[in-house]
Amino acid sequence: MKVDVLLGLQWGDEGKGKIVDVLTPKYDIIARFQGGPNAGHTIEFEGNKFVLHTIPSGIFNANTTNVIGNGVIIDPYVIKKELQMLNKGGIAVDKNLLVSRKAHLILPTHRLLDAVFEKAKGKNKIGSTLKGIGPTYTDKVSRNGLRIGDLEEKNFDVKYNKSRNRHLDTVMLYDQDYEDITIDGLPFLEYEAAWHNALEVVHKMHKINNEYYLNNALEQGRSILAEGAQGTLLDIDFGSYPFVTSSNTTTAGMCVGLGIAPSKVGKVYGIFKAYCTRVGSGPFPTELFDEAGQKLRDVGNEYGSTTGRPRRCGWLDLPALKYAIMLNGANELMMMKTDVLSDFNQIKVATKYVIKGKETEELPGGGITSKLKSVFKDVNGWNKSLEGIEDYDHFPEEVKQYVKFIEQFVGIPIKIVSIGPDRTQTVFT
Ligand code: GDP
Ligand code: IMO
Ligand code: MG
Repeated sequence: MKVDVLLGLQWGDEGKGKIVDVLTPKYDIIARFQGGPNAGHTIEFEGNKFVLHTIPSGIFNANTTNVIGNGVIIDPYVIKKELQMLNKGGIAVDKNLLVSRKAHLILPTHRLLDAVFEKAKGKNKIGSTLKGIGPTYTDKVSRNGLRIGDLEEKNFDVKYNKSRNRHLDTVMLYDQDYEDITIDGLPFLEYEAAWHNALEVVHKMHKINNEYYLNNALEQGRSILAEGAQGTLLDIDFGSYPFVTSSNTTTAGMCVGLGIAPSKVGKVYGIFKAYCTRVGSGPFPTELFDEAGQKLRDVGNEYGSTTGRPRRCGWLDLPALKYAIMLNGANELMMMKTDVLSDFNQIKVATKYVIKGKETEELPGGGITSKLKSVFKDVNGWNKSLEGIEDYDHFPEEVKQYVKFIEQFVGIPIKIVSIGPDRTQTVFT
C-alpha cells in the first residue's frame, strides 16, 4: 500500500477539512503531518459544525484511526479544548486518536515569543495566528525543543524551566514585561497554569512511534490518507517568504512529517478554491480591493476559522496553481467553493504575470512577490444557484467550461466540485 496525500494548493483554508471528512470512509488511517493549531479545518454534517486545529479530520468516523504525526507541533492547552469540544458534540475520541512521541510541544513561552516578535516587526508583521508556530519550529531546528515523548521522562520539569528561562530572557531583550502579555485572553501566568493543567489530558493520550506504526500499517494493507495543513503558497521554502508559515506544507513535508519514504507516496490530491483567499500579510497578485472582493468575502463567509480575521479575496491565480501542482506532484484536483461564484456575470482568472514589461507563466526567483502584476482572462459566469446539484452533468454549461479551462491550463483533472460547506454538497466529476 501507499500513502495518499491531500493538501492545499493556495494560501490555506481551501476546504481541506471538509474533503478529508468526505474521503475518510475510504481510509483506515488519517494522519496530520505538519503545522499545528494555526490550522483551522471546518467540517459540517447533519447540522453540526466543528473546527479542528490539531486533531485530524477523520475523527468523525468511529472506524478510522487518526494519527498526529512527528511533524506536527502540539499545544496541550489547545488540544484539551478541542477534545472537550468533540466530547460535547458527542464524538467519541479514545483509541482512535494516536499521537507521535516525536511531535514537538508548543510551550506557553513560545506563544509569548510569537507575540513579541510580531510586535517588533511593526508594519512588516507576518500576520501570524500567534499560536507559537515560528518559535516552536525554531526550537526544533536549533535542537532546543521539547517533545511529547519528554512528558514521559522524569526530568521534564527541568527541561521545561530551562526553555522557559531562555525564552523569558529573549522577551526581556524586547523590553517587554511578560506578566503584562495576555494569551487567549488570559494574563501569561494564568495561561501558563492552564497549560500545565492541560498536560493531564496529553498524558492520557495514546502515544506511538508513528514511523513504525504507519509503515507497519502499510505492510498490513491498511490505507492511509495524509492531511495537510496551511497551503503550498505558505510553505517555508516555496511560499511568499517571509510571509509564510514555518513548515513544509508540500508532499515532501508529508514524508518527513510522518516517516514515509517518497517511494510510498500514492495519489496526491490538490485542493483549491475556485478563487483565492489569503489571511495575514504578504503579496497576493490577484487580490481585489473593490466590490467584487467584498462580494467574495460576504458570500464565501471568508473569515478565518482560527482567528476570525477577514480573509483577503481575489481571482483564481492559474500560474500559481500550476506551480503548486508541480511542487506537490499533485495528480487529482478538488475545486472548492464553486457556489460562491454563482452570482457573478463575469469571472476573471489570472493566466500570466507581467514582470519588467515581459509576460510569463513562471514565478521569478523570489516566488510570489509584490512586484508581480497578473494578466487576467474573462470567463463567463453562470449566474445561477448550484444548490441541490448532485450530478456533474446537471451543472450549468459555464461551470463545466470553467472546469475544463482550468484542467487544460494545469494539465490534471478536477475530480470533485464542491458547492457548499456540508459533507453532502460534494459533486464527483
Ligand atoms: P481548511 O483550513 O482548508 O480546512 O478550510 P477552512 O475550514 O479554514 O475554510 C473553508 C471554509 O469554507 C469553511 O468554513 C468550510 O465550511 C467552507 N466550505 C468548504 N467547502 C465549501 C464550499 O464548497 N462552498 C462553501 N460555500 N463553503 C465551503
Ligand atoms: P489551514 O490549515 C490560512 C497564515 C497566517 C500567516 C502565516 C503565518 O486552516 O489552511 P503562523 O501562525 O503559521 O505563524 O502564520 O500563515 N496561516 C494560515 N492561513 N490557513 C491556515 O491553516 C494558516 N496557518 C497559518 O495567517 O499569514
Ligand atoms: Mg483553515
